[in-house]
Amino acid sequence: MVSEHLRVLKSSLVASSLRVLSLRTRKKTPRFEASSPLRDAHKSNPRAPQRKISQEQPVSDLRQHSEACVRNREPILNELREHLADAHHVWEIGSGTGQHAVYFAAHLPHLTWQPSDRPQYHGSIEAWRTDAALPNLRPVLAFDLFDEAPAVEHTDAIIACNVIHIAPFEATDRVFAHARASLNPGGKILLYGPFIHEDRELEPSNQSFDAMLRQRDPQSGIRRLADVDAKARACGFERALTRRLPANNDLLVYERPL
Ligand SMILES: C[S@@+](CC[C@H](N)C(=O)[O-])C[C@H]1O[C@@H](n2cnc3c(N)ncnc32)[C@H](O)[C@@H]1O
Repeated sequence: MVSEHLRVLKSSLVASSLRVLSLRTRKKTPRFEASSPLRDAHKSNPRAPQRKISQEQPVSDLRQHSEACVRNREPILNELREHLADAHHVWEIGSGTGQHAVYFAAHLPHLTWQPSDRPQYHGSIEAWRTDAALPNLRPVLAFDLFDEAPAVEHTDAIIACNVIHIAPFEATDRVFAHARASLNPGGKILLYGPFIHEDRELEPSNQSFDAMLRQRDPQSGIRRLADVDAKARACGFERALTRRLPANNDLLVYERPL
């Protein structure tokens, strides 16, 4: 009887000390990764993906959250349904949080989606991928546009969302050079983001976005469409289509004339 009483007392002591420990651990765990480039960018740029972990998620969850991704994914998806109807393999450059990869792979099951980015983004991309457990979403590949070789060979399409105005302009050459090396015949390059059109003034929202980007990093900035086209042409690609999407963004589709 006494020993049974002691056993119950002991287990309730262990349970309450575990509760205290877990509360302490929770308190000490930062809600953001120590190094979080997208979160830092968001401090000065409301359009940059916001790295935020919701209260419901476990504290160890590395999934990062971009409100912009959630806003723009549906209009982009509608375009992809049309332009990637006959594609099988897609290579995404600059996958960022990984939200686009999960969303597009889930809604376009005929595609094999290959995300890629620089290593500091892999934790979030892999966390989203593991959580989604989609059969057509591949593990992220380490890839920097300034790498010599493309990360992927024989792909039907390459997509880069919100990369061209972040990376230095020389990186745009690299997009087309890598595409030339890795795209299957008839393959497409899809670029999404804001661009400067020759025939109209840059919208006030994009003017302030551009100023903020350049102040943060003089190598960033919204690119002139004509300059992007020139870089495409140098690698044998032509802009086949331009779609105006919400929030003054465009989807550009480049192809190589057969
Ligand atoms: C604003 S985030 C966009 C992320 C995501 N595509 C989206 O639309 O939410 C810019 C992305 O460009 C990528 N990026 C910038 N410079 C790059 C480079 N030199 N090579 C590859 N990716 C680069 C970043 O790593 C980041 O994922």
